[in-house]
Amino acid sequence: MRDFLVAGNWKMNGSIAANAELASGIVEGVPQGGGFRLLVCPPFPYLAMVGDILQGSNVALGAQNVSDRESGAFTGETAPSMLKDVGCEFVIVGHSERRALYGETDDAVAAKFMATQSAGMIPILCLGETLEEREAGTTAEVIDRQFDAVVDMAGVSAFEDAVIAYEPVWAIGTGMTATPEQAQDVHKHIRARLAGLDVGLAEKIQILYGGSMKGDNAPGLLGMPDIDGGLIGGASLKASDFLAIAAAAVQS
Ligand code: PGA
Repeated sequence: MRDFLVAGNWKMNGSIAANAELASGIVEGVPQGGGFRLLVCPPFPYLAMVGDILQGSNVALGAQNVSDRESGAFTGETAPSMLKDVGCEFVIVGHSERRALYGETDDAVAAKFMATQSAGMIPILCLGETLEEREAGTTAEVIDRQFDAVVDMAGVSAFEDAVIAYEPVWAIGTGMTATPEQAQDVHKHIRARLAGLDVGLAEKIQILYGGSMKGDNAPGLLGMPDIDGGLIGGASLKASDFLAIAAAAVQS
């Protein structure tokens, strides 16, 4: 049985006061029980502060983006080693907002995936189709292209220390959640594609769902056989909303 991972992607939100309060609220409300892990990914300026608040809790720290370079003259970039240094265990790579708004290509995402692992952290690789692509019937093709770019560059064994997040772009921030069946179909497809390369890794890898996940739809989504957690945006910005999803991930 795979553990659930419930990850909050805070995106570009908050302040010192608001993010300290959010982190403390989450730490104080972590549900009893096992079979799950929580993760929060604050904006860069708050990573160290939130990391301090998470000390001694079972809530992990992650970043929303990373440079694929190690150090040097790359103005405005953040090296993987710096994220590791402030306590990050995970890095989100290839989020659809980075792909669509900042022009990150499949190859750029693959390079960030590898850089994250080189620094000893776990990449959360986001894959997902737009509404146009879904309506054109090309969902599987898009997912395969995004996934294969990473396999081609990093090798399949890199998925030993990685998490995948399926995030249909049309469901992000729109309130339009994929149904559990729609999400399960794609999760199953991703797992099968990895199984075609390595059956053991496919069984082991956590595949998160992201896109308007909330306390009320989390039980249905997390109840599907190939959904191993969530990558949550909007509902991760209020401790009680995030904890409601966490509660759905407790396995007895
Ligand atoms: P959402 O965002 O939960 O607000 O839809 C999910 C994400 O972008 O990771």
